[in-house]
Amino acid sequence: MTRLSTTAVLALAGMALSANAQELTWQKDIAPMIKAECGECHGADAPEYNDWLVLREKDKKLGSRMDTYPHFMTYVAWPATGAMQRRLDDGKSPAAGGKPGNMYKYLGGNDAERQKNLQIIKTWLGEGAWNLNRLKARDNVPGVTKEQLEAIKAKY
Ligand code: HEC
Repeated sequence: MTRLSTTAVLALAGMALSANAQELTWQKDIAPMIKAECGECHGADAPEYNDWLVLREKDKKLGSRMDTYPHFMTYVAWPATGAMQRRLDDGKSPAAGGKPGNMYKYLGGNDAERQKNLQIIKTWLGEGAWNLNRLKARDNVPGVTKEQLEAIKAKY
């Protein structure tokens, strides 16, 4: 491939990706994925976040509800800020320290599928929204910033 055509291909791929990014929605792209990959443990019959915090004291194998937009965003924005990003990260984010989050394995049956689904969620959340920070600083990791939270687009 010549240099020019490589550039052209990359430009076209970039255009396709950004067009895609604008079209990604919770209803069309994310909800079906979460239902298929996570629904067994995080579906409509699972307790919502606050009930789960109480119930998990007695049952460590219990998952919480994540199948609707507000339930899901509880783990992206507040109060479980960044939990979704920390658990789903493939270990390549600088803050992940090389270790994938313990829910990454559920994103698909093989690594190509997991990478594809991770990329879809990242793109849907918005550029600059994949932050592993908690609401408040812990150890050497600073708390999330207002700018980081403002990067969340996540179209419904
Ligand atoms: C086989 C059951 C199972 C599947 C499938 C599963 N999870 Fe979980 N998940 C759990 C359990 C149990 C916990 C609580 C224990 C823990 O923190 O690891 C949990 C915890 C989490 C948390 C942390 C919540 C918090 O505030 O600490 C997130 C985020 C999460 N899961 C997201 C997902 C996503 C997204 C998927 C699908 C890609 C998924 N999980 C698939 C069982 C599951």
